[in-house]
Amino acid sequence: MLDLGCGPGFTSFDLARVVGPTGSVITCDISTRFLAFLRSERDRLALTQIEPSLGSVEDLDLPPGHLDGVYARWLSCWLPDPGAVLERVARGVKRGGAVAIQDYFDWSAMKLVPECATFGPVMDGCMRSWQEGGGMIDVGELIPGLAEHCGLAVEHLRPLARIGCVGSMEWRWLGGFFRSYLPKVVERSLLSADELEAFQAEWDRRSGTGGSWVHTPTMVDVVLRKR
Ligand SMILES: C[S@@+](CC[C@H](N)C(=O)[O-])C[C@H]1O[C@@H](n2cnc3c(N)ncnc32)[C@H](O)[C@@H]1O
Repeated sequence: MLDLGCGPGFTSFDLARVVGPTGSVITCDISTRFLAFLRSERDRLALTQIEPSLGSVEDLDLPPGHLDGVYARWLSCWLPDPGAVLERVARGVKRGGAVAIQDYFDWSAMKLVPECATFGPVMDGCMRSWQEGGGMIDVGELIPGLAEHCGLAVEHLRPLARIGCVGSMEWRWLGGFFRSYLPKVVERSLLSADELEAFQAEWDRRSGTGGSWVHTPTMVDVVLRKR
């Protein structure tokens, strides 16, 4: 099994439990920081079936037809050429093996309820940062078409969207995203420091009082099968 763009390894640990102690999960990411975390967690959890590998998925050189499965969440949206990566990956999968991808389909579907004026600039700044970033944020819409060119049949295609109240997993997920990503949007002059401060104050206030909820960006859940 291969976990592409594994980040800190949250999905790799799940996959390791799926394949069991006799299986193998190779993980690939370009971040040394994430891989260092993944290695220390792997050792702590004694999940020795995980083999971390540092590098870009764009340079993967997989032996043909040996993998049972590949999983990639929130990776394709960062890639300038997701089709080229899918082609490389598909070559490495054995006939009947699966490629499972979860990625954004409609990022702009994110909503904060009740609406507030400070959220608009945040959405605009993020959308502009995606447009300038080199990848395609709503890459999920491309995956089924790209798969056809790689000998992968679409077996499962389903939208994934969630809502969550203050304190929910969805609320904490987006709160973490805002804290880590919005300063980068400010650095790129796509959001002003004042706009960030106003939004963050609003978010923190709501986090402490309840009554608000979020609709997450819509993702797509795709399972592809090697012909
Ligand atoms: C949003 S995180 C997702 C992490 C993980 N898949 C998850 O769902 O928790 C995106 C990850 O893709 C990695 N990444 C981006 N471009 C990459 C590339 N060209 N090759 C390998 N990893 C890449 C980043 O370092 C980051 O860890």
